[in-house]
Amino acid sequence: MSHHPAATRYDNPALYRRCGRSGLKLPALSLGLWHNFGAVDNYANSRALILRSLDLGITHFDLANNYGPPPGSAEETFGKILHADLAAHRDELIISTKAGYNMWDGPYGDWGSRKYLLSSLDQSLRRMRLDYVDIFYSHRPDPETPLEETMGAVAHAVRSGKALYAGLSNYTAEQTTRAAKILRDLGTPCLIHQPKYHLFERAIERGLDRVLLDEGIGGIAFCPLAQGLLTNRYLAGIPADSRAGHDPRFLKPGHITEEKLAKIRSLDALAQARGQSLAQLSLAWVLRNPAITSALIGASKVSQIDENVAALCHLGFAPDELARIDAILAS
Ligand SMILES: NC(=O)c1ccc[n+]([C@@H]2O[C@H](COP(=O)([O-])OP(=O)(O)OC[C@H]3O[C@@H](n4cnc5c(N)ncnc54)[C@H](OP(=O)(O)O)[C@@H]3O)[C@@H](O)[C@H]2O)c1
Repeated sequence: MSHHPAATRYDNPALYRRCGRSGLKLPALSLGLWHNFGAVDNYANSRALILRSLDLGITHFDLANNYGPPPGSAEETFGKILHADLAAHRDELIISTKAGYNMWDGPYGDWGSRKYLLSSLDQSLRRMRLDYVDIFYSHRPDPETPLEETMGAVAHAVRSGKALYAGLSNYTAEQTTRAAKILRDLGTPCLIHQPKYHLFERAIERGLDRVLLDEGIGGIAFCPLAQGLLTNRYLAGIPADSRAGHDPRFLKPGHITEEKLAKIRSLDALAQARGQSLAQLSLAWVLRNPAITSALIGASKVSQIDENVAALCHLGFAPDELARIDAILAS
């Protein structure tokens, strides 16, 4: 049965921010489908997360060929929800996918060859039952394939109409500068870069954010909540239904050290003084960086999406708050 998204979903135009110097606006929060959308997950919950997001004005959904588990199944879940519930709303959505990590056996199922990227995009389109995605990313730089070949494949995806825009993820500042020039020369400029960025991971501040601003490329920060660490999730132990509690493939209980928890508690106290939750402070902090267009969150519960969108009501920081955050992180 078709879903009718909330009539109020576009009531807050400030939610949308221009992606670099492109014509495209993205929501300040986007939803990623890395976790909680695989065939192993509860379909009704996955559906509720997507529908609630759109009801709140989140128009951007981020996928990759390998999201699941099993790999590919998040795209299948998303395609199913899109066609069952949102078929009339395709033109309101920005749907991205990526290729770069291991997807199938043999020498053509990984990294950055033209063979892999273009076959993978065709597979993603079939899984989602789409004619095109809005953004196609090279998911990671390939040290063995000429950058011209990888960027040529991404540009071909755009020129063929199977993607509207080109994206990069996990490229360094120097790689991004080179890739952006190749894409520009090919007539398919780089729209967006997807780096990891959160309070505990500030590597982009050592040069990549400057490159994005100079090149007019939008930034979309992945894992802005450090997979849940930068929320109230782990303040009193590891809940059984948390990512570290039930799916420790990427966030291992061992990562949640006493040293980290001490910082998390101090950040939580600062958030409370601002009248926010820690998740809200963490998202506002990522979005304060002018190179960042959107914070790319994950969620396991609809209530988390509600809480995270409410962060957008209080994004600004006083200089002394930023100094206090830096002091906590350095402690
Ligand atoms: N390009 C890349 O290489 C790359 C790599 C990784 C991710 N990504 C993208 O980034 C997206 C987001 O990654 P992520 O899921 O790690 O992001 P995240 O936003 O850092 O973490 C999301 C997790 O934090 C918890 N959470 C969220 N909001 C909460 C709240 N208000 N209160 C308490 N807990 C909350 C939930 O975990 P619980 O399950 O514990 O509830 C949720 O699944 C991915 O889906 C993907 O699209 C890209």
